[in-house]
Amino acid sequence: MIKVLFVCLGNICRSPLAEALFLKHLELNHLSSSFIVDSCGTASYHIGELADARTRKVAKEFGIEMPHRARQFKEQDFDEFDYILVMDESNYENLKKVNSVKAKKLIFLRSFDPNFKNLKEVPDPYYGDLKGFYEVHEIIKDCTHSLLDFIKNRKNEESN
Ligand code: 4NP
Repeated sequence: MIKVLFVCLGNICRSPLAEALFLKHLELNHLSSSFIVDSCGTASYHIGELADARTRKVAKEFGIEMPHRARQFKEQDFDEFDYILVMDESNYENLKKVNSVKAKKLIFLRSFDPNFKNLKEVPDPYYGDLKGFYEVHEIIKDCTHSLLDFIKNRKNEESN
């Protein structure tokens, strides 16, 4: 089983969308049973809430349901998950404060963007308009698809 965790600030916009899009991509590739996928936030503001209505609206237009309820990152997550993907520099800094040694395993999701190789962050759409949510959907879709390629290649290398 491969365990993947997506992390953002509030766990209501970017990371639950990454979770949902990655799950959908796994399903289409008949790989769902090999993965456990989750998401969380570094902050506690939205614990227990469904994703932001704008995130869910955009996802729904692409046929994606988002039942996830927000939760906060906990230190055990560092050990529980094989891949921990953060959205931006502040997520990274916040998790470094939780455990600076274990934070070395964190990966920026945007580093998998096949279009904009030099960008580090998935922008936070929360304070913007709906257009930003569509843009973030595109970015996260591309990045999560490349992430699966990366994980599959790594698995192949390990078994060779
Ligand atoms: P997310 O977006 O980190 O992508 O879920 C945000 C959600 C909530 C807040 C900020 C960003 N907030 O300040 O409540």
